[in-house]
This record gives sequence, structure tokens and C-alpha cells, in this order.
Amino acid sequence: MVFKTIIEPFRIKAVEPIRRTTRAEREAALQAAGYNLFALKAEDVLIDLLTDSGTGAMSSEQWAGMMRGDESYAGARSFYRFEAAVKEITGFAHVIPTHQGRAAERILAAVLLKPGDIVPNNTHFDTTRANIEAVGAIALDLPIAEGRQPGLLHPFKGNIDLAALARTLEENPGQVPLVIVTVTNNSGGGQPVSMANLRAASALCRRHGVPLFLDSCRYAENAYFIKLREEGYAAKTPLEIARELFSYADGATMSAKKDGLANIGGFLALNDEALAQQAKVQLILTEGFPTYGGLAGYDLEALAVGLKEALDEDYLRYRLRSVEYLGEKLTAAGVPIVQPPGGHAIYLDAQAMLPHIPPHEYPAWALSLVLYLAGGVRSVEIGSVMFGLQPDGSEQPAAMELVRLAFPRRVYTQSHVDYLAEVLIYVHSLRERIRGVHIIEAPAVLRHFSARLAPAHGSLLAEVQGT
Ligand code: F0G
Repeated sequence: MVFKTIIEPFRIKAVEPIRRTTRAEREAALQAAGYNLFALKAEDVLIDLLTDSGTGAMSSEQWAGMMRGDESYAGARSFYRFEAAVKEITGFAHVIPTHQGRAAERILAAVLLKPGDIVPNNTHFDTTRANIEAVGAIALDLPIAEGRQPGLLHPFKGNIDLAALARTLEENPGQVPLVIVTVTNNSGGGQPVSMANLRAASALCRRHGVPLFLDSCRYAENAYFIKLREEGYAAKTPLEIARELFSYADGATMSAKKDGLANIGGFLALNDEALAQQAKVQLILTEGFPTYGGLAGYDLEALAVGLKEALDEDYLRYRLRSVEYLGEKLTAAGVPIVQPPGGHAIYLDAQAMLPHIPPHEYPAWALSLVLYLAGGVRSVEIGSVMFGLQPDGSEQPAAMELVRLAFPRRVYTQSHVDYLAEVLIYVHSLRERIRGVHIIEAPAVLRHFSARLAPAHGSLLAEVQGT
């Protein structure tokens, strides 16, 4: 290639205006939202990086597919197109559509787990953890040690700790009915898992007769990281790499709102016939008949197209590059982030940026509020508000205090990213003035979605002396 600029590999056909707000408006919006960014009205947000889930832009092919949607209750054409796409990529024998990832997780927990069971994962996403804990089982995070050091460079920080996994399997015979590997490791910084790590985890699981499932919502991004970083994969296509990834697992849950490039959808796919039958019973209870699983026919069409578009190399190159581009600007300005940048998001290291705020005053949460206040940017805390509350009701600091800036797929352009860098670098310059928050009220499960908080010391930013 002669030219080095990696462009957005698409033209824009429909535009959606975004609205600027004043600082006073944002201040009022925060207060009304109980200092919880989940409670903001989206129209009060300028750049919305709350999540990359269901927020992507669909292609003209996907929209065209939606017009072909077959809305038959049973046996719809759209289901078979969707099933064929999932089978082509994953190779699994049984494909069960669900309305999103957590529905697949709930079903898997219902058919495989009982109270006291242990489920290891490189790092459980919050809904996976909650679904495991909801049936009385224990969700165990086993990331490699490097994965817990935000500033450290490592090509596959998402890897599962194989020695710890082996120990867990050996010490708890009959008590580990399932091992999960999350690709990429979202809660651990959007970091990829290497093929070698997954292959070894798979061998361990097979030796112990324990099924291995992938939490596969960002399978395409993980596949592209393998192509870029792991020896022996440079000449392979993302589809070939994805197929190999899935071949080491017995099944997968998927939130297709990420690398399915759709606004809603998911699936549970697996090889075990008896387990698939039990899962379908669960599916009918809460999701729907097995050929639609809570989705419209047009959703299944959008997914059939989107799952494959996510494996397009031009798209993946642009996708990973736009995250890396922001990472480079922040690193050059001394803003501490999880290194190297992940696939779908930049994670600010609030512990490193705000050492003066103790964990019980939620530094990452406070930082996310100030990002909104300063620049209308919505992010999400992945720290002690999200993970600090233990099942027994006690409070423990999370392993890391991160703020995630997740990039919706095919939505923002390079100038949006340039603006973001400006806001982030500006907020970093205010860091010594940022103050902690406390929780006023919160539910016992998944509290970050609906908790109400308030500044712990009167305001989010300390006044500057002498002004
Ligand atoms: N697993 C992982 C790794 C996820 O990131 C998510 C969702 C899920 C499972 C659940 O899928 O939302 O379709 O039910 N993550 C979103 C996020 C919400 O913002 O990271 P879902």
C-alpha cells in the first residue's frame, strides 16, 4: 500500500444530528440523573461512548436484508439465513437465537449450573457474573497477572491464567461444570486472547471433561488481533481465524449487538444435542420459539449479514486503528490508559490519574462524571461501583478503577475522535481538582445501572485557589 492513512471504509448515507449543550445544562442534567450517566437522556450527550453494544450503524446491505425479513412464527427463512451464518463462522451444530447475550447466559446457567458450582473465566462480564450468581454458583475471574497491570504492555492481556485454571479444575472435581473464555476480555480492558492460550485452555478442559464456552461478542476483533500479533496467523483471513477460535470450544454465548453489527440480537450455540434440547425448553419459557428466540425476522436478517461484515478486513483495520489512534494521542499527552489499547474501547486508568481519591469514593465514577461535565462525553465506570459489592453484601475495592470509552461501530469519524482527545487531555489537566462521590441509594444486584450518587465533598471539582 502506497498511502498510510487508514480511512473509514464507508460513505455516509443517513445522518443523525447530535446536540451541543452548555456546561450549565450538563450540570443540571447530572444532578437530575442522580450523578449516574445511565440515567442521562441520550439527547443531552454529545459523544456517546457508554457502550459499543447495539449502538453501531448498519450497512445498506443490512437494511436491505431487513426488508426481506420473514416474520413467520416458526421456520422463517430469516432464521435459516441466520443459522447458516452462525454455523459458517462457529461450526457449532445447534444455534439458538436469543434477544441478546445475557439471555443466552441465563439459559446456559439454568441448564448447566447448580448452587456451589464454580465457573472460571478470564474475566466475567457483569451480566455473566450476575447470571451465574443468580443460580447460587460462583463466578471466578482468572486473568493472567499482566492483565491486572493497566500500564504494562503485553500482546494478549486477555489471556486466562492457565496454571490457575488447572489448579481450579484439579482442586474442585465435579464442581466446575463450565469454563468460559471471553473474547476479547471486555472487563479486563478489551484485551485479546491468543490462539495458543485458548488452545491450551481447551486441552485442559477436555482433560477434565469440562465443557469450554466462549463469550464471543467481540470474536471478530479478537480474530484480527491474532492476525496482527500472533505468529503464524498473518496470512490467514479473519474468518479462518474465527473458525479456529470456535473450534476449541464446545459452545458459545454471543451478544450480537457487538460484532454482529446489529442493534439487537444474540445466540447460544453448542454441539451437545441433549443440552441444546434443554436450552430450547428454557428459551421457550422466556424468549420465544426456537426459530426466532425473541427476535423479529428482520433482526435475524440484519444479523446474518452483520456477523459476516464484522469479519471484513478493511472494516477491522479501521476499527482497531480508530481506537489505537485515540490511545496514541492520550499516551503522548501522559494520560494513563490500559496499554495497549483494546479492540472496542480505551480504558482510562482512574487509579493512576486520581491517586488522591480512595476506592470508597469511586475515582473512576467521579472521572466519568467530569468527562461528561467538561465535554458532553458519556463513558462508563468499570470499577468499584460496578464490581465492589459482593454477593454477601460486603464492599471490596475492584481490582482496577477504569473508565471505559467504548466506540460504537461505524458511527463516529476521525474528527469526533480528535475532539474526544481534546476533552480527555483537558480533563487530565484538571485531575488534581477532581473529587470523589458517594452512593446515596443502590439496588443489591447490578447496582451501577440505577444507583443514585452525589459528590462526597460538595462538588465534583474543587475550586481553584485564588479565583
Ligand atoms: N459478555 C460480554 C463480554 C459483554 O460485553 C456483554 C455486554 C455481554 C456478555 C452481555 O450481552 O448486553 O447483549 O446482554 N456488554 C455491553 C457492554 C452491555 O457495554 O460492554 P448483552
